[in-house]
Amino acid sequence: MEKEKFYITTPIYYPSDKLHIGHSYCTVAADAMARYKRLRGYDVKFLTGSDEHGQKIERIANAQGVTPKEYVDKIVAGIKDLWAAMDISYDKFIRTTDEEHVEGVKKIFKALYDKGDIYKSEYEGWYCTPCETFYTEHQLVDGKCPDCGRDVEKVKEESYFFKLSKYQDRLIKHIEEHPEFIQPQSRQTEMISNFLKPGLEDLCVSRTSFKWGIPVDFDPGHIVYVWVDALSNYITALGYGTDHDEDYKKYWPADIHLVGKEIVRFHTIIWPAMLMALDLPLPKQVFGHGWLVINGGKMSKSKGNVVDPKVLVDRYGLDAIRYFLLREVAFGQDGNFNNEALIQRINADLANDLGNLVSRTCGMIEKYFGGTLPEEQEGTEFDADLKAMVSATVEKYESLMDKMLFSDALSELWALIRRTNKYIDETQPWVLIKDETKKPVLAGALYNVCEAIRIISILLQPCLTRTPKLIWQQVGIEEGTLTAWDSTKEFGLLPKAVSVKKGTALFPRIDMTKELEDLEAALKAAQEESVANKMKKAQEEAAKAEEGEKWEEITIDDFCKIHLVTGEVIASEKVPKSSKLLKNTVKVGDEVRTILSGIAKHYTPEEMVGKKVVIVENLAPRKMMGEISKGMILCAEDKDGNLSLVTNDKAFGSGCDVM
Ligand code: ME8
Ligand code: MG
Repeated sequence: MEKEKFYITTPIYYPSDKLHIGHSYCTVAADAMARYKRLRGYDVKFLTGSDEHGQKIERIANAQGVTPKEYVDKIVAGIKDLWAAMDISYDKFIRTTDEEHVEGVKKIFKALYDKGDIYKSEYEGWYCTPCETFYTEHQLVDGKCPDCGRDVEKVKEESYFFKLSKYQDRLIKHIEEHPEFIQPQSRQTEMISNFLKPGLEDLCVSRTSFKWGIPVDFDPGHIVYVWVDALSNYITALGYGTDHDEDYKKYWPADIHLVGKEIVRFHTIIWPAMLMALDLPLPKQVFGHGWLVINGGKMSKSKGNVVDPKVLVDRYGLDAIRYFLLREVAFGQDGNFNNEALIQRINADLANDLGNLVSRTCGMIEKYFGGTLPEEQEGTEFDADLKAMVSATVEKYESLMDKMLFSDALSELWALIRRTNKYIDETQPWVLIKDETKKPVLAGALYNVCEAIRIISILLQPCLTRTPKLIWQQVGIEEGTLTAWDSTKEFGLLPKAVSVKKGTALFPRIDMTKELEDLEAALKAAQEESVANKMKKAQEEAAKAEEGEKWEEITIDDFCKIHLVTGEVIASEKVPKSSKLLKNTVKVGDEVRTILSGIAKHYTPEEMVGKKVVIVENLAPRKMMGEISKGMILCAEDKDGNLSLVTNDKAFGSGCDVM
């Protein structure tokens, strides 16, 4: 029988050198779902990737003196590393710079144009570069980006537009007729009442003011602007529009697009409208998950509150982190990330409930039976209840996982883990062992515990990728038919003579009071390290420039941004603990200001006093060695690093413009 297909996608991520635990949240959830479906026998395609075009990338790359492609190549390698560290079992990683994607998007753009759904006009509006999104005047909040709250730029340029408005009625009808299309339910209501009912505006789909994007091949100068490029990935990744589109034919339409709540709108309005225009089937479901927040605010790099998943994985192991992400937050809602809650979950659920169950079971079988259960076994009065709970849990677990309710599914599974621990307490092996005639009952009870553990370990697999194998090694369960998903439906498959081998604790207990401080320090260090790396990069760039690289040409407007004036040094002293810095008091017209300079090795404080210097007047103040420095004194530097003050030839007084 041919397997049923299941196609699940994550968003394609903007290249960032600091993907945080919030991003991992989405990929881990998609991964758990993909693994679950594979275990259930589906032919799964799990897609993730990177969204690499746009003005923002172009700007960062320019600032770093590399090409956009060089920049994204490096970042994408880092993203792939992170996904490897988190056991993300994607089947394909698409990059929007992939040749096949680029060609596919050109074709899609042309097809939309030929159909008359794309037309040329002029765009005027507000653009948020970090979010890569245009806003109309009335969408702004206090003149700022309604999503991230940052400054927006006014833009006006010739652009192509997609006739989104034309599809409004069809979209409403589709959403109303397919209640499963947008999940959770609340997001569906939001789309209809906030966006569709008030009326859709046509969508700007090309830009001319930057270059890093897919060119519109029938109109040079235009590049395909963000969403037509990004959203198309879900079909170009399957070879849509090429001569080898077997995957497209097999896997499209997607079963689930998993996305964060802020991009549900793009996936449930723009994307379906594009597909309608192309006469292609719509995805079956768009699931909008919530955000991982820190103290109520969205985790984001620009806010400096990101939690580095690698730090957590290094400290507690991957499964602890995957478990926390899937268990702590009701999928669909926002969830708070909190170090204390993480450690609590590890201690209570993983070390105590699960870890303890496995270790005490192995320990007893070793102690009472030398490691192998005898085949002569009898039942206990508590067996029926345990078995009933096992089969009920399997059923509930499946139905909750089918709905992507990971937290509820794990909560059911943990109820079974606790029930199994309780079964040990009920049967009291430590009492049974005292009576030689009770040995078969004791063996039977421990067998039932092993059998429950076997079924629990199978159900764990979508969420925890490493622990199940460790359990199988300890409890002597051979991988294969005994670990197949369907074997959860039968209690008693494990051969009677279970042979255990107690190993190290699956999840060591953590000392909360001691650990909290260390963890905070480690997370902070990771953040600072990334800042330090960036500074190092900047220094390397500066060094390159000094080696005689050509300076970028600037306009007079650029130059006019720097205000140079004459000044007179009226006092100067060494900065304590610094071999380089002098603290100068400089008269600038009527103003007297403090300017720190790195010239202590070239001028004594005495030599400085009375010097007629040139300063950068409007340089943002900087704090150095505990002092605020306002401005910069200009020096010439020779090849050997000697410094010479720039003075003015006619010894004009302070406060004269220099230009
Ligand atoms: O939006 N908690 O990319 P992106 C939970 N390129 N999820 C979070 C999160 C957090 N704190 N921070 C980010 C884009 N995410 C586009 C997508 S798809 C055709 C194009 C999630 O890198 C976010 O909700 O900004 C989104 O789903 C995903 O990370 C990628 O975000
Ligand atoms: Mg985003």
